[in-house]
Amino acid sequence: MDKLKIIGGPGLKGKIQISGAKNAALPLMAASLLSNETITLKNVPHLVDITTMANLLMHMGLEISMNGTNQGIGHTLSLKSNDSIETKATYDLVRKMRASVLVMGPLLAKHKETYVSMPGGCAIGTRPIDLHLKGLEALGAKVTLEEGYAHLIAENGLVGGDYEFPVISVTGTENIMMAACLAKGTTRLFNVAKEPEIVDLANLLIKMGAKIEGAGTQTLTIHGVESLSGATHDIVPDRIEMGTYIMAAGITNGEIEITNGDLTLLPTVVDLLKKTGLEFIEKDKGFIVRRKDPKKPLKAISVSTNPYPDFPTDLQAQYMAMMVTAEGDCTITENIFENRFMHIAELLRMGANIHIDGSVATVKGVKELIGADVMATDLRASASLVLAGLAAKGETIVHRIYHLDRGYEHIETKLSECGALVERTH
Ligand code: EPZ
Repeated sequence: MDKLKIIGGPGLKGKIQISGAKNAALPLMAASLLSNETITLKNVPHLVDITTMANLLMHMGLEISMNGTNQGIGHTLSLKSNDSIETKATYDLVRKMRASVLVMGPLLAKHKETYVSMPGGCAIGTRPIDLHLKGLEALGAKVTLEEGYAHLIAENGLVGGDYEFPVISVTGTENIMMAACLAKGTTRLFNVAKEPEIVDLANLLIKMGAKIEGAGTQTLTIHGVESLSGATHDIVPDRIEMGTYIMAAGITNGEIEITNGDLTLLPTVVDLLKKTGLEFIEKDKGFIVRRKDPKKPLKAISVSTNPYPDFPTDLQAQYMAMMVTAEGDCTITENIFENRFMHIAELLRMGANIHIDGSVATVKGVKELIGADVMATDLRASASLVLAGLAAKGETIVHRIYHLDRGYEHIETKLSECGALVERTH
């Protein structure tokens, strides 16, 4: 199993290009099920999750072509569905990636029936899809659970309706928004997610001919149309990848020029990081990030994760790594997932001082971390351990880095180009 060997120490110095967003690419790929014309996506990152989604769609019968090399950043993906595709998303494919449930809304809307395997839990939580199912029922779907599969039928097609999400759900919002595009009549969705990836999906759907109002706000109004056409779309930059590399500059006391990024995608995060002592200098193709005073440690500042535009749960582990060697104490509260502190046990092995009380972790700053063998457990926890390894004294081996490959395109290349001593070993 692949590992990352990291020798900690030098402050990162150099340029990093941000890739297209994984959590935009996945729903954008699923949207191709809504039309029989070609959807062309540009700036698609080379990631295991993207390959998993492509395999699922190809397995169903879509024509998928990809161009652009594996060495470069991003490639172009063309996807074309048809009327005779398989509308069953099987367990062996869905269990590999929970985001496979994003095919459910489009399949039901376009083909009037679908079987989608219930995704099962994952390391960070049970990850139910009850809100996806309730939202589709609000559009007239009949839902039954049969041997681990959700069986959804709308024999006369979906009908526009109102649905209020009791809990904000990113992929839940995406699934219902996609389904509503082909429903008869108008759908109003309340308490929806406002993430930039939702806006990016709405932008593609509108290019395909959908009528959507309110993307990025807490209420979506979708006027159903008969059919949707093909379109071409440039994927929004990955704000979580960008936040991860910003924190890499912070934790190593380096200076990184981020290109292809967009700081407006992380409003709360940037304000918080400025309070810890980081500064951002705008450049023509991006920005430089570094400590305002390289002679001083970062300041410990507390944070709670919440839906966009608040601090994202997907940056919680990385921020915690950065706070481990900050000056002072802070609390980090995880409000979204019930089990997203698995990186803490590993950070403790490197000399961190962190105490957990339910969903609140108290981090007491220590002078330095010591390299160690650590185990990655999920995508963002892995990133947290890489950041810690970059700043630790000595050698860190991050085991099970297949988790990393799900969400970070060419991570060791991007880091090595900034002077990090990191190599992938088997
Ligand atoms: C999306 O997951 C992201 N994945 C996650 O990123 C991200 O952490 C999460 O949103 C929160 O921002 C993709 O976009 C592919 P949710 P999603 O539905 O949509 C509960 C990463 O690292 N809930 O917004 O699955 C749920 O348990 C990944 O890139 C229900 O109870 O998350 C959670 O507590 C990890 N019932 C909360 O809502 C449902 O039907 C938010 O989950 C759905 C969700």
